[in-house]
Amino acid sequence: MSSLVKKLKDTVTGHSDTSSRNSRHRAAVLYYKGEHLKIESRKTPAPGPNDILIEVKAIALNPIDYYQRDMGFALSSYPVVIGSDIGGIVTSHGSSVPSSAPKPGTRVAAFAPTFHLQGEPDRGAFQEKALIPASLVTPIPDKMSFDEAAMMGMAIVTAWTGWWAIGMPLETDPSMYATDKKALLVWGGSSSVGSAAVQTARWMGYTVYATASEKNHEYLKSLGARDVFDYKKKDVVDSIIKTAKADGVRIDYAYDTAGASAQITEVLKASKGGRIAKVAEAVPLSGNEAKVDGVDVTFVTASQDEKERDAMFSFIMNKWLTDKLALGEFVPSPHLEVIEGGLDALNKGLDKLKAGVSGTKLVVEL
Ligand SMILES: NC(=O)c1ccc[n+]([C@@H]2O[C@H](COP(=O)([O-])OP(=O)(O)OC[C@H]3O[C@@H](n4cnc5c(N)ncnc54)[C@H](OP(=O)(O)O)[C@@H]3O)[C@@H](O)[C@H]2O)c1
Repeated sequence: MSSLVKKLKDTVTGHSDTSSRNSRHRAAVLYYKGEHLKIESRKTPAPGPNDILIEVKAIALNPIDYYQRDMGFALSSYPVVIGSDIGGIVTSHGSSVPSSAPKPGTRVAAFAPTFHLQGEPDRGAFQEKALIPASLVTPIPDKMSFDEAAMMGMAIVTAWTGWWAIGMPLETDPSMYATDKKALLVWGGSSSVGSAAVQTARWMGYTVYATASEKNHEYLKSLGARDVFDYKKKDVVDSIIKTAKADGVRIDYAYDTAGASAQITEVLKASKGGRIAKVAEAVPLSGNEAKVDGVDVTFVTASQDEKERDAMFSFIMNKWLTDKLALGEFVPSPHLEVIEGGLDALNKGLDKLKAGVSGTKLVVEL
């Protein structure tokens, strides 16, 4: 292909990024663990073969962001650009991005896997332009805001990774889940990950029980939980067991977003009825957890094999979430709170998240 023909073709497909070759954008850069993010100008990268360059319009905050900022979690060298969750607009594609991927100009939700990429500066969310693998970009409905779009990536990827980690199939058809008389417990249902776990479990057809503070109970019921229990009450374990019994269901699966595997295993031990029950544990295990016969607890982590991981990410973001957003069967959750001040407000936002939120996703608008 002559270079002129290629240039014309790339202009139409958005594959070439000539517009950004000399351009720069603002980014929140981390120079070392324990320091504050510093705002500076960076050269805007051209997309690699499987990348989509995204103009970032909104960024949602996650606990991993302050683990990385404050403790250097999963970072091996500096400087880095961290941040995972983006709402934005596709700017251009790399040469091998499938033609089915959202075209330049499309409004999208995107997930930057900073844990796996170790804060690679071109690929973190905390900047105005970020490179995201095509497998982690989802088009959003017209009525969805960039703020709402930013709320979903980490939550839905972590929820589905948990289901995969405990052996559930990755399917887009809910009838593939044999859920007759089965229930599932989400501990910490009002968290970002927990609320996505509640929604996905309900979509699979499970009777969903969750735990949360009292003020978040009605909200979780609106997302599909059949009953919600206050984890601060002494009799919480007994209440869940009794309710499942009265409802005529057994609880075979649980998702833990709060490090409560001891209480969860008590529930499952009493409820599972002779089968192996499984817990997806989002909070790192200490290794000292008591083993309970018939209950397997598995830490939620994606495959270390890049191809396998990419295929799973693609199922979640390119297939499942794309379909469910179009059908209105998944909504951004929990409640949105905007931290005013753009990139400059990221440090303040992370401090607020670290101090603790309740049923709230913090978002910074650019
Ligand atoms: N393994 C992974 O790949 C992965 C990925 C993402 C996140 N995570 C981890 O998963 C956890 C949740 O993350 P997130 O972003 O979803 O958190 P988040 O939204 O910041 O969590 C806040 C929520 O936690 C709930 N909560 C706090 N203590 C609780 C307890 N003892 N029992 C039940 N609920 C409790 C609160 O519920 P109430 O206000 O209703 O009390 C609050 O709504 C974090 O530890 C995070 O590091 C792991």
